[in-house]
Amino acid sequence: MIAPVEPYRVKVVEPIRLLERDERVEKVKKAFYNIFLIRGEDVFIDLLTDSGTSAMSDNQWAGIMLGDESYAGCKNYFHFEETIKDITGFKNVIPVHQGRVAENLLFSQILTKGDYVPSNNHFDTTRANVEVNGAAALDLVVEESRKPSEEYPFKGNIDTNKLEKLIADVGPEKIPVGMMTVTNNTGGGQPASMANIRKVSEIYRKHNIPFFFDACRFAENAYFIKKREWGYADKSIKEIAREMFSYADGCTMSAKKDGLANIGGFIAMNNDSLATQLTNMLILIEGYRTYGGMAGRDLEAVARGLQEVTNFDYLEYRIKQVEYLGTKLDEYGIPIIKPTGGHAVFVDAGKMIEHIEPENYPGWALTVAMYREGGIRSVEIGNIMFARYDSDSKKEIFPELDLVRLAIPRRVYSNSHMEYIASVLKHINENPECVKGLRLTYQPKVLRHFTCRFEEIDN
Ligand SMILES: Cc1ncc(COP(=O)(O)O)c(C=O)c1O
Repeated sequence: MIAPVEPYRVKVVEPIRLLERDERVEKVKKAFYNIFLIRGEDVFIDLLTDSGTSAMSDNQWAGIMLGDESYAGCKNYFHFEETIKDITGFKNVIPVHQGRVAENLLFSQILTKGDYVPSNNHFDTTRANVEVNGAAALDLVVEESRKPSEEYPFKGNIDTNKLEKLIADVGPEKIPVGMMTVTNNTGGGQPASMANIRKVSEIYRKHNIPFFFDACRFAENAYFIKKREWGYADKSIKEIAREMFSYADGCTMSAKKDGLANIGGFIAMNNDSLATQLTNMLILIEGYRTYGGMAGRDLEAVARGLQEVTNFDYLEYRIKQVEYLGTKLDEYGIPIIKPTGGHAVFVDAGKMIEHIEPENYPGWALTVAMYREGGIRSVEIGNIMFARYDSDSKKEIFPELDLVRLAIPRRVYSNSHMEYIASVLKHINENPECVKGLRLTYQPKVLRHFTCRFEEIDN
């Protein structure tokens, strides 16, 4: 594959430094082999997340200077609102400082104990916000999503048979909202097709169940529809996005992804009385309705980012850069989830690191090796993040796949950074002894990956 060309040129640079190997060895040891505990400045290439890590454009930075910090009615809010209405068509737009607040507002107002919220896959903050309100967050993604090497174009689709069955089993009154994550982050950043979105919407509408998108990466999803679904090749990204949103009743969104901003988010919906209820809650927990926890300047950055993200040339480059990294890894024989998703490449660490037992966390061990060998920070989405403790056998039950996610920040790294990342993984693949098994020495009760500690063991 030919390296994709950046549709921008660089105006400002941020120096990054690759520490010497012995310094990296020391840093990761001091961080108890948990790369969340390493300082950002000690990382050479940071692939921990694509959230809030985008490089803003000159147009966005110019907008920052036009921030109106009036408490009520700042002009940037109206630009923000107008932009979101233009893209989504929803009547009410409520700003929040990041995506999980939108989830909190929605679920705290509409869910009660014993309810169900289906989705393709819930992202962890979405799931937590559903569960904290006593409801069950159900993942109804299609079976193809579970097959790493199967090149199915829309692995983010919802299995509509499972959805119909759930509604028949529990009754529509037990489902106050149905969700769909686009693209499906937890399922590998895979898209949902327009046909699937339409069908899911039909099912929800038939049963009077409101349908909301978790729309963090709506533009990346629209790009995949344009490229992979019949009938959309000649439509613009905005037209496709508008059609996607037309099938839903609202959306939550973290603007830290396809808002191309470092902070921000919103919840938008057609239902006026729900919007009033959520606005009252917003004032209690975030801020007034025209800023919702954000500075005026950040509202402006998001408004401009949302327009830029629908630019085809940007998206073509963005998705192709992720694919470029995936292709390189594939060439080097490193097992990855195929096809590559919108925002990340997922390495099948369980398959790649054969000499470490699942109990010694091969995926996590790979993240340690990537830092030690190349100063790269990635994130394990596997045996540490998703294990369940079985009190009968007193053993951890691990997820089907032990993955390492290489999330690519938007407009930040060049193709030569991608080549470097691939070469570090190639080196590790050829020298597996540099990946060492791990034993937990400390873990908190919830969300253990953020703060747990390890020691290395001899393989
Ligand atoms: C699909 C999805 N939903 C929700 C969120 C939560 O957004 P935030 O981190 O802004 O709270 C994320 C963040 O990564 C996400 O990927």
